[in-house]
Amino acid sequence: MRTALEGKNIVLGVTGSIAAYKALDAASKLTQAGALVDVILTASAEKFITRLSFQSITHRQVYTDLFDSSSDLAIHHVALAERADLIAIYPATANTLAKLAHGIADDTLSTTVLASRAPLLVAPAMDGYMYNNPATQANINLLEQRDIHIIGPSSGHLASGLTGTGRLVEPTALIEEIKVILGRQGDLTHLSIVVSAGGTQEPIDPVRVITNHSSGKMGYAIAEAARDRGAKVTLVTASKGIPDPAVHTVTKVTTVNEMRNAVLAACEDANVVIMAAAISDYTPVTVATQKIKKDTESDRMSIEVRKTNDFFLEIPPQVLRVGFAAESEHLVTNAAEKLERKGMALIVANDITAADSGFNVDTNRVTFVDKTGMSEELPLLTKYEVGHKILDKVQSLLHDSG
Ligand SMILES: Cc1cc2nc3c(=O)[nH]c(=O)nc-3n(C[C@H](O)[C@H](O)[C@H](O)COP(=O)(O)O)c2cc1C
Repeated sequence: MRTALEGKNIVLGVTGSIAAYKALDAASKLTQAGALVDVILTASAEKFITRLSFQSITHRQVYTDLFDSSSDLAIHHVALAERADLIAIYPATANTLAKLAHGIADDTLSTTVLASRAPLLVAPAMDGYMYNNPATQANINLLEQRDIHIIGPSSGHLASGLTGTGRLVEPTALIEEIKVILGRQGDLTHLSIVVSAGGTQEPIDPVRVITNHSSGKMGYAIAEAARDRGAKVTLVTASKGIPDPAVHTVTKVTTVNEMRNAVLAACEDANVVIMAAAISDYTPVTVATQKIKKDTESDRMSIEVRKTNDFFLEIPPQVLRVGFAAESEHLVTNAAEKLERKGMALIVANDITAADSGFNVDTNRVTFVDKTGMSEELPLLTKYEVGHKILDKVQSLLHDSG
């Protein structure tokens, strides 16, 4: 699976908000991720944005008029409702929220929603006064009581020129939420998985650190793959540059000690831990309180370091443990030795000398070594695909251990 949205039928309802232009970006991102996007525009949405734009992006028919005799809906007016895996209304006006809350079906979008059993995700966007109006708030409450998913609105600059709550969430947030909702039908809904990611930083003084080249991409890809299959995911991350995925919990850490505390706390109610973080093996013996000045007398300076505590063995034994081994030589032998020493169920070894795998790229070439001694070399895959392969393996190891 290239992405969680591959082959999914997503109905994207667009209503008459000034923020409707963002729906083009959402339609484009969903289509690029492999979703089959059926756009429904309300009559008001068409005042802001054209069918042609959506048609050009999705390469599919765009629906507006329920009574259009040239549309395939003329033959079967609830066809979109039936084939939808999910309906997202982005943006959702106060008017459309009111119609949804009260079961009004007077156009293609509201009729489709009423006729569908697919999950519904609604992203309100409006002026702050419209949003705070008791009528709108009561309508949102009604929708929430019916387990309709509401995302946003966020706060910030509004089209009215005022600052307040009513801003449409960004397309990426919408898409993350769609994946979370679709993931609830996945095969890992019974699992609570802790994933660590990124390279830790050990301070030398207030401005300098000991760190490594880990970007965090592999850990994030595993967290997303697990989320997309319905697992409850806690991501403990030392990564700085990657946007947070929409998982159950994201805990940011910097040092090995912070990583240890966060991972052990999260493992208390977890079934599986996948340690993709690159954790520093050494830390300075003392951390200078002031910036260490350049020595004008000598060309050399040394920093005394000590080994960090390896907390892998402190993880409760009932938690299935998956580790990584970044190796530059003797991949399988070194990985097997590490697996044994640390009591892991599975180790994912990657050859960091290859340009297309390891640090800071979106692909990886890994070899699995498991506790039975079996080793399996995987072809070059995206890190997201590697994430799924690890999770498949975790499933079978959990199955084998009863
Ligand atoms: C320039 C302009 C911007 C508007 N922006 C919004 C908006 O962001 N949110 C909203 O709820 N209504 C907004 N409206 C009002 C809606 O377009 C109006 O309530 C319309 O009936 C909504 O119809 P629909 O829900 O069927 O799309 C705006 C109207 C205009 C003229």
